[in-house]
Amino acid sequence: MTDTTAAGSKDTEAHLKKRRCAEAAVRYVEPGSVLGVGTGSTVGYFIEALAARPGLIRAAVSSSEASSRLLSAAGIQILDLNEVAGLHLYIDGADEATRARHLIKGGGGALTREKIVASAAQRFVCIIDDSKLVETLGAFPLPVEVIPMARSLVSRAIEARGGQPVWRRGTVTDNGNHILDVHGLSITDPRALERELGEITGVVTVGLFAARPADLLLVGTATGTETI
Ligand code: 5RP
Repeated sequence: MTDTTAAGSKDTEAHLKKRRCAEAAVRYVEPGSVLGVGTGSTVGYFIEALAARPGLIRAAVSSSEASSRLLSAAGIQILDLNEVAGLHLYIDGADEATRARHLIKGGGGALTREKIVASAAQRFVCIIDDSKLVETLGAFPLPVEVIPMARSLVSRAIEARGGQPVWRRGTVTDNGNHILDVHGLSITDPRALERELGEITGVVTVGLFAARPADLLLVGTATGTETI
């Protein structure tokens, strides 16, 4: 059934923009390489674009079980990160991005493996639709992956720093951990906050990508793709 509501058409428009930047990312892929692949609906479109070009890549290192399933269905071999010396390129989406290419990631709960694969790659190309481009990060609640037994301890430490953590109930990450979504932050110094929150005992990963930002942002717009 076609969704003809205003919300429905906005949603369709967002997905069109996601598809646009995902397809634009294919041109950065080195033929025959092992590619790092992120997680989310935008990456889903990117995997579709890869599936339409059989044999373009030799294999992929995946950032989540969800992406591994999509990659396998597309006939793409998956390698463990331990099996490869390094990656030429990592492609992933984000929940928010600035023009300095600092990101909030983890809306899909895959932030830890995403950060690991991003850090193994020489180049990180981030694909987003233009609704995610912001002046200051923080309107999107910042995901923080925590060891389950430390959830309350970490929550109190984050509250003491002015954030309002909300436990993403029912979500267990691929690593067996919990997620806190931190509201109420206006992130003017993403590198400092990434470091500060990362130092709280019990925190596994902070969903800020500022120490290792994206190298390139491909932003899907109503008319094409902007490169930042
Ligand atoms: C998953 C992520 C995703 O990249 C982020 O949530 C964007 O997802 P989508 O492409 O579905 O909007 O960080 O952990």
